[in-house]
Amino acid sequence: MNGVRWRTADTAAKFIGITDSRLRMSEKTNLFTPFHGAGLELANRIVMAPMTRRKSPGGVPGEDVAAYYRRRAEGGVGLIITEGTTIGRPAASSDEAIPNIHSPESILGWKHVVDGVHAAGGKIAVQLWHMGLRREPGTGPEPSAPSEGPSSEGAHSHAMTDSEIADAIEAFAQAAQTARAIGFNAVEIHGAHGYLVDQFFWEATNRRTDSYAGSIAGRTRFATEIVKAIRNRVGYDFTVSLRFSQWKVQDYSSRLARTPGELEQLLIPLADAGVSIFHASTRRFWEPEFTDSSLNLAGWAKKITGLPAMTVGSIGLEGPDFLHTLHARDTDRQYGQHQAASLDSLLHRLGDGEFDLVAVGRALAADPNWVRKVRDGAQDSIVTFEQSTLAELI
Ligand SMILES: Cc1cc2nc3c(=O)[nH]c(=O)nc-3n(C[C@H](O)[C@H](O)[C@H](O)COP(=O)(O)O)c2cc1C
Repeated sequence: MNGVRWRTADTAAKFIGITDSRLRMSEKTNLFTPFHGAGLELANRIVMAPMTRRKSPGGVPGEDVAAYYRRRAEGGVGLIITEGTTIGRPAASSDEAIPNIHSPESILGWKHVVDGVHAAGGKIAVQLWHMGLRREPGTGPEPSAPSEGPSSEGAHSHAMTDSEIADAIEAFAQAAQTARAIGFNAVEIHGAHGYLVDQFFWEATNRRTDSYAGSIAGRTRFATEIVKAIRNRVGYDFTVSLRFSQWKVQDYSSRLARTPGELEQLLIPLADAGVSIFHASTRRFWEPEFTDSSLNLAGWAKKITGLPAMTVGSIGLEGPDFLHTLHARDTDRQYGQHQAASLDSLLHRLGDGEFDLVAVGRALAADPNWVRKVRDGAQDSIVTFEQSTLAELI
C-alpha cells in the first residue's frame, strides 16, 4: 500500500470508520500517501492550517514560536503553514504582536523557526498577510498610518492610489523573496476571509471605478499582479499557494462566485499568473459548493484549474465551526462541545481525488501529535480541542 504507515490496518480502519477490508486493499490516496507536486515533496497530505497567535512582540517570532511550530513538525505534520505574517506596508497589521517578515529581527526570527522545523524533518510555508480595511484605524505597529483598501470605508481609511497598489504588490514580492532566501518551502498569499486581497475580489468592498474593479477579471487583477511579481522574484520552481474563500469575516454568507463559471473566471487568471496550489478555505469541508454536485470548493478549484487543491474546515472535529469558536472566545458564549470526529468521509473524498491536501486547524492547535496519533490509530489519546485551547496555543 503506497505510503501507508498505520500501525495496523485494523486500528486505522477502526478510527476512520471503515469496517471492511477496503483500507488494506485500497491503492487510493490516503492521508499518509506522500505528496509530490507543485514544487513540494511532502511525507503526507496533512497540512497545519494558518492560525494567528499574536505572540511575536515587536513582530519578531521568538523562541516560543519556534518551539510551537517545531512541536507540530515533530508530531508528523506534512506541511506547516504559519500564522498570518504581515508584509512591509505601514498599515498591514493591527497588532504589534503579529509577526512580520520585513524587519531584520523578524527575518532572523523566522530563519530560526524554519531551521527548527527542518531539523525535525518538517516543511514550512509562510502565510503573507495584509489586513486592509479589517485593520482598526489607529492600531498596530504604525498606528498613525491610515488603514488602506480598494475603497475608502469612512474616516481614517483610505482608497489605495495606483502607486500604493504598486508598493503593496512589491511588498508581497519582497516578502516571498525573503521567505525563499531564509529556507521556507513555500509561501501562501492570504487572499481569503475579507482581508486586503479578498477586499479587491469582493464587490462589496471593491467599489473602485478603475481597471482593478468592475468585472471579475478586474477584481482579480490585484491578486494576479501579486502572483506575477512573486514569480518574478522566486522563479517557477517555488511553491506559491493562494488561500481564497467565499465567506468573509464581515459576512459569512457572501459569495465571490455563485456558479462554477464565475469561479472559473476568478481562478483561471490566477492559475495563469503562477499559483501552484489553491487553498480553498471553507468552514466545513463536506459542504457541496454548488448545486448538482457534491464537490466542495477545493474540489471545484482542482477541477477547474487542474492544479493541486487543499481543503480545510472542521477536519477531525465535531461541534461548532471555527468562527463560532472564535466568537465564543470573544464573547464567552457557548456554542456546544467539540468532539473528535471520524475521518471516513474525508478519506473517501481524498481517495477519489477530489482534493490533494487537507489542512487541519484547531485539532492541531489542541494536539501537536494529532498526525502521529491518527497514523498510529491512537485516537483515544488525542487531546480534543476546547475553548481554552485558544488562550494558550502552545
Ligand atoms: C485561532 C485561529 C486563528 C486563525 N488565524 C488564521 C490566519 O492567520 N490566517 C488564515 O488564513 N486563517 C486563520 N484561521 C482559520 C484557520 O486557518 C482554519 O481555516 C479554520 O480554523 C478552520 O479549520 P479547523 O476547523 O480545522 O479549525 C484561524 C483559525 C483559528 C481557530
